[in-house]
This record gives sequence, structure tokens and C-alpha cells, in this order.
Amino acid sequence: MDQWLLSPGRRLSEEEQTLVWCKPSSHKDSEEEIRICNEVKRNWNQGEMKIANILLEGDAGSGKTQLAKALSANFGLPYTKVTCFADMDKSDIIGAILPVLSDEQQESMGREEKEALKALYQSDNLSAAVGILVKTLGITEKQAGVRIRQMVKVLEQLPQTENVKYRFYPSEIVRAFRNGYLLEIQEPTVIRDAAMLMALNSALEPDGIINLPTEIIHRHPDFIAVITTNRGYNGCRPLNEALRDRIQHAERMDMPSIEVMIERAIAKTGYTDRYVLSVLANAIFVLDQTARANAIKGVAGMRSYFYWIDAVAYGADVKESLYHKVIYKITTDPDEIRILEEALNVQGITSELNDINSNRNVKKNMIPTS
Ligand SMILES: Nc1ncnc2c1ncn2[C@@H]1O[C@H](COP(=O)(O)OP(=O)(O)OP(=O)(O)O)[C@@H](O)[C@H]1O
Ligand SMILES: [Mg+2]
Repeated sequence: MDQWLLSPGRRLSEEEQTLVWCKPSSHKDSEEEIRICNEVKRNWNQGEMKIANILLEGDAGSGKTQLAKALSANFGLPYTKVTCFADMDKSDIIGAILPVLSDEQQESMGREEKEALKALYQSDNLSAAVGILVKTLGITEKQAGVRIRQMVKVLEQLPQTENVKYRFYPSEIVRAFRNGYLLEIQEPTVIRDAAMLMALNSALEPDGIINLPTEIIHRHPDFIAVITTNRGYNGCRPLNEALRDRIQHAERMDMPSIEVMIERAIAKTGYTDRYVLSVLANAIFVLDQTARANAIKGVAGMRSYFYWIDAVAYGADVKESLYHKVIYKITTDPDEIRILEEALNVQGITSELNDINSNRNVKKNMIPTS
């Protein structure tokens, strides 16, 4: 599986090695994955024709993030990600210069602030600080991210005083850019500030540079940016044109075919009744199409499918779990539910689901995972 390694001679540090994704046994190589790997590998040493900015655009749950991780595994590059949000600012894109407060200055701070400060001072970049909070406080990555971001804001607003040391904390983007990682940039469509988009843009130039307050850094030759975004329907904003223009390879990521859905579900859940798997996959497909056609906002996708199969595999009623694992995830509005139910009726899926319930003891078909 080393056919796509990009820099076989490169020595990764121990920490970097832990960031290279290991494919779990449930991973199925996809057409898109093989195509991208062949393309990138083919052009890797072709100077100006090198492919290092990739766009994966499409349906929720179609496998964009897992594909980005699979590229990390195949290319032998550490994987990192940045999840974009509307009011991203300079410290989120580039990083922050923060004062190192004395014990005395820390005294007036609250418990949460002290925890965040401690994490910051133990780290050399912002995401490492987030990681420390996750570990020490047992909170989610999102919560830890919010706390660190708040702390950065507090520190940045402190009046400047003499005799205070400052340290620069690079963002995840800068870390990946400087060290040559594969960076997944999730949903940059939501960024509102045009200046932030410009900064991102210039980082994506083939010989891009990022101007830090402390130094100018150059794009590492191994840096790969993978932008993942949902297709811009239902009022979603489209991807900024200039960003789009810097993409060198793009994949349209639709909901996988029924066959692929079934293969992934078998690998994930260990449930193997192909008839049931295909009826449920069809149901998901019809619900997804119907929701879109009727401007119903929710989605029915791979995630709903996996959880539905999992429930059925453990003996749940197929029709009842349809509501808890799929339909109520799309909507709880009675009129919209009626539209979805009607579509299942018309396609004959409702009666197939009823038959499954009455004819099968689904539990028999479980094979032990692992
Ligand atoms: N190649 C694959 N083989 C097996 N399972 C896969 C594969 N790709 C994706 N999956 C599974 O499908 C689910 C959705 O995948 P993923 O999170 O990558 O989707 P996504 O497109 O990034 O979704 P979102 O738009 O919500 O970010 C996950 O449970 C993932 O493990
Ligand atoms: Mg994703």
C-alpha cells in the first residue's frame, strides 16, 4: 500500500506519525480515492502542474472527511483539520501573539480562565492547547475550542505593558502549511470576513507565503489542502470564486450508490442480510430525494443508514426505528412527515418494510464483528 507515498524519504517525528491516519478495517477504498491518489502521485514532481489543492464537494455524509483522511494514509502525510465558522478572525486563520502572564497577573482570573491559560502555556500552538483541555477536563473538542478562543480574546485585549514576554501561537492552518501536513478545511463557505478568505487564498498559492508577525513562512512542499463542503443548495452559500479557482482537482461527492452503501454498512455494522440492507438503502435514497424535491431541510444519508441498520441488526422493529433513526432526523413537522411517508408508499417500500418485520427474525443474521 505504499504506491502513493509522496515523500518516501521524509522522516516524520513521533507526534507527526500519530497524525497519519490508519485506515480502520471498515474503510472501503472508493473510486474517488483511487483517482485522486493516482492524479496527485503522477504530478507530484511536475513543478507547476503539481496537484496540492483539492476540493471535495457534495452531499452530507457522502464520505468527504473520510476520503481526506484516507488520502493522509495513502500519501503518508499527517492529517489535521480546521472547521470554519462564520466569524473566524485573524487569530483563527493565522494564530495569535499572546502575553505570558506572571503568576500575580493570573491571580485575578477565574478557574476556567486559569485552566485555559495553563493549557496555552503548556502548548506551542492553539490546537495543542485545545487538545490539552479535552484531555484534562474531559470536555468536547468544540467546548475546548470555545474556551481557548475566549482566552485568546481576553489576552489580546489586555493593555500592553512593558516587561511582558510575548509568544506566538500558530493556528492549525499555519502548522500544516509550515510542516507539510494534509489539512482538511471544512466548509470555508461560511466565513464572512472577506479579508479572512483572502488570507486563506494566498495560503493556497502554489508558492504561497503566510506573513506572521514574527516571521514569513513558506508553503512546505508536502502541504496538501483538501477543502470539503456541502453543495450549495437550499440557500447554502457557494464556495468563494477565488478559492475555487485555486483548486487543482475536484470531486463531486454524491450519496454513494446503493451497492457502495451496502458494502460500507456491512463493514461497519457486521450485519449481512443483503435483502434487508438493500430495502433500507432504497428507503434512505427515496427519503433523501423526496426531502430535496419538497424543500424539506433535513437530510437522510449514510449516517442515518448506519444507525438504522445497527438498530435493526440488534432486533429493533424496522418500521419503528425508521422514525427514530431516519425520519425524525429529517423533520418532525407532521405535514412534511406525511410527504415522506407518501413517497415510501408510492415506491412500494412501506410494504417491503412491513414484510421484513413479519417474515424475518433479523437477529439471526448477525455475525460477530471483530
Ligand atoms: N470509504 C468509506 N468506507 C467506509 N465507510 C465510509 C467511507 N467513507 C465514509 N464512510 C462512513 O460514512 C460516514 C460519513 O462519512 P464522512 O464523515 O466522511 O462524511 P462527510 O461527507 O464528511 O459528511 P459531512 O458533510 O457531514 O461532513 C462515516 O460514518 C464514515 O465512516
Ligand atoms: Mg465531513
